[in-house]
Amino acid sequence: MQLFCVKPKVHMLDTFAEFAEEFALNKNDLLLTETILYDTFAKPLNLPCRVILKDTYDRGEPNEQTVDGILRDIKDWEINRIIAMGGGSVIDIGKVITVRNAYPIRDVMCGRTDACPDKALAILPTTCGTGSEVTFGGIITMRDTGLKTAIMDERLTAQHAVLIPELIAGLPFNTFIYCSMDALGHSMESFVSAARGNELARAVGARSVSLILDGYAEMILHGPDYRQNLLRNFIIASCLAGMAVNNGGAGPVHALAYPLGENYKMSHGESIYQFLCPVFRLYQREAGGSALEEVLDMAEKPLRKCGLFTARKEIFTQLEAMFNRVLPLRSLGEAGMKPEDVEPFANSILATKQRLLVASYVPFTREMAVEIYRERL
Ligand SMILES: [Fe+2]
Repeated sequence: MQLFCVKPKVHMLDTFAEFAEEFALNKNDLLLTETILYDTFAKPLNLPCRVILKDTYDRGEPNEQTVDGILRDIKDWEINRIIAMGGGSVIDIGKVITVRNAYPIRDVMCGRTDACPDKALAILPTTCGTGSEVTFGGIITMRDTGLKTAIMDERLTAQHAVLIPELIAGLPFNTFIYCSMDALGHSMESFVSAARGNELARAVGARSVSLILDGYAEMILHGPDYRQNLLRNFIIASCLAGMAVNNGGAGPVHALAYPLGENYKMSHGESIYQFLCPVFRLYQREAGGSALEEVLDMAEKPLRKCGLFTARKEIFTQLEAMFNRVLPLRSLGEAGMKPEDVEPFANSILATKQRLLVASYVPFTREMAVEIYRERL
């Protein structure tokens, strides 16, 4: 049984300029990014590489039309290496366009074209949440079904994950916190996963949890702008969380989050924030046990640091108070959810998200889903 795998080499550099020099960007490189990132970091360097700006095709999440449009535009270019600099959307597109003869992408997604890459890939994440610089596969929304469709193939893994703190310096505060909540969700859920949790995933996940929670304590003590001193810690924590979830798997927090994104366009990170503490509070009430005790250990020190620790049996309520001191959370009602949505959402995740629910620390029931949705209304 395979316990742990990380394919990319992970690099840390202070600036994009250092990256461009160290990786000797040339005319056979394709820089795939967004206009704002290109203008800020790449344009001043007058680089010899080709450039594709994803937002000039579509501003949303990756879809079939955007990927095909990009593939049509680059078809006559001789590309040896793709540099994907951006958030989850740019990274997912970067992964799928490494495939040889990828046009039309529909054929790759449904297996008619073998997902064999003929280009190298370097990923430069510009958020501190998904960890997708170290995961394989991506998600593309298909035109005919409108469904987000995953392609999971280990060959679609970057050769290099390049962590550059200056790339996350400009993230708005809310986005920064929501992204890091997603990373925290990856680390905490994989840490206690009943399905795939293992010591190697827990080793990297634990460090990620400590870095993020300590960062929140520091922001409570010194204010939101203090995050600029913590960029290195957060981009590393996000990468570690990506390794943890890739090897240990996510769980019910992610399952509960999906209907919020699909129905109310709530960001993935905010919807993880909604359910992280309620789910872990339920775990503590229903089970306890050694893995959960270790999570309590990780939370206690940062809670003490910012003066919010009272008792271990209250720790997930205190953690929620801590998160709300960093960034207050709106209720699901404020986001548009109605009491009559609770039962259909619970039914839907029980029917379609068993892959995540089986990883629950305690057997996860429909009643638990209903209870947690009601609690957050
Ligand atoms: Fe996530």
